[in-house]
Amino acid sequence: MTVTIKNKEDIQKMRVAGKLASEVLDYITNFVVPNVTTEELDRLCHDYMINNQNTIPAPLNYCPPGHTPYPKSICTSVNNQICHGIPGPKVLKKGDVINIDITVIKDGYHGDTSRMFYVGEPSIQAKRLCEITYESMWLGIKQVRPGNFLGDIGFAIQSYAEKNGYSVVREFCGHGIGQVFHEDPQVLHYGRPGQGMKLQAGMIFTIEPMINAGKKDIKMLSDGWTVVTKDRSLSAQWEHTVLVTENSYEVLTVSSGTPKPF
Ligand code: MF3
Ligand code: CO
Ligand code: CO
Repeated sequence: MTVTIKNKEDIQKMRVAGKLASEVLDYITNFVVPNVTTEELDRLCHDYMINNQNTIPAPLNYCPPGHTPYPKSICTSVNNQICHGIPGPKVLKKGDVINIDITVIKDGYHGDTSRMFYVGEPSIQAKRLCEITYESMWLGIKQVRPGNFLGDIGFAIQSYAEKNGYSVVREFCGHGIGQVFHEDPQVLHYGRPGQGMKLQAGMIFTIEPMINAGKKDIKMLSDGWTVVTKDRSLSAQWEHTVLVTENSYEVLTVSSGTPKPF
C-alpha cells in the first residue's frame, strides 16, 4: 500500500480540478429532465469539459485491468443501477433517480465527484434513499482528520445506512486520487472504528458510498461496466474528493451549485 502525501502545489492543483468537476455537475443540472437520454447528457458534459473548461474527461477510454475501455465521458447510473452506468439511448422518465459521476483531469490532476438528480418528482422512497445516502457520505467526511482511521469513515457510513434499513455495497469503494485516477488507499464504506489505515495530513481520497434500498448484492451487466442491484432495488451514490488537513478535512469538489453539507 503506497499512499501519496500531497504537497502544497499538488493540493492547489487538486482544488482546481475538484472545482471544475463540480462545475460540470452544476452545468448539467438543468438538463436532467424527462425525455432526455443519457447519451445526450454525456455529449453535453463532454463538450463542456473539452470546449469550455479545457479539461479531459478521465473515464473516456479508461481501462483498468480486467476491463474493456470505458466508452463514454461520464457515468450515468439510473434507479437500480449502482455505478458505472454507460450513457446510451435510455430515455429518462418522470420519477427516475440518476447518479451522474464526473471525473476531470486538469493540469495532470483528477477531480472526482457525483450527485443524485431527480427526474421530475421522486417517489417518497427514492427521495429518502438519496437523502440518507447523502447524509451517510457527510457522516463519513466528518470523520476525516489526522489520527483517525479509515475504519472510522466506513463505520460512520455503514451504521447510519443500516440503521435506516439500507445496505452498503462492498465491491466498490472510495480511493486515493491525484495524478492517478484510482490509487491507494481503498476507502471502504463499511468497517469498524479504529481499524485500517491511520489518516495523515496531505492524503487525498474520495468518499463515495453506494447504498441500496434492498440487499447489498450486485450484478454486472453484459456490457462489462454497468453494476446493478441483484434484487433490482433502488441504489444511490454521492461522491466528494476530500483532503486531510492539519486538523480536519477540506472538501475539494465544491462549486457554487454544491449542495449544503449535512
Ligand atoms: N468516477 C468513478 C469513481 O468514482 C470511476 C468511473 S471509472 C469509469 O471512481 F471508467 F467507469 F468511468
Ligand atoms: Co471515485
Ligand atoms: Co466518481
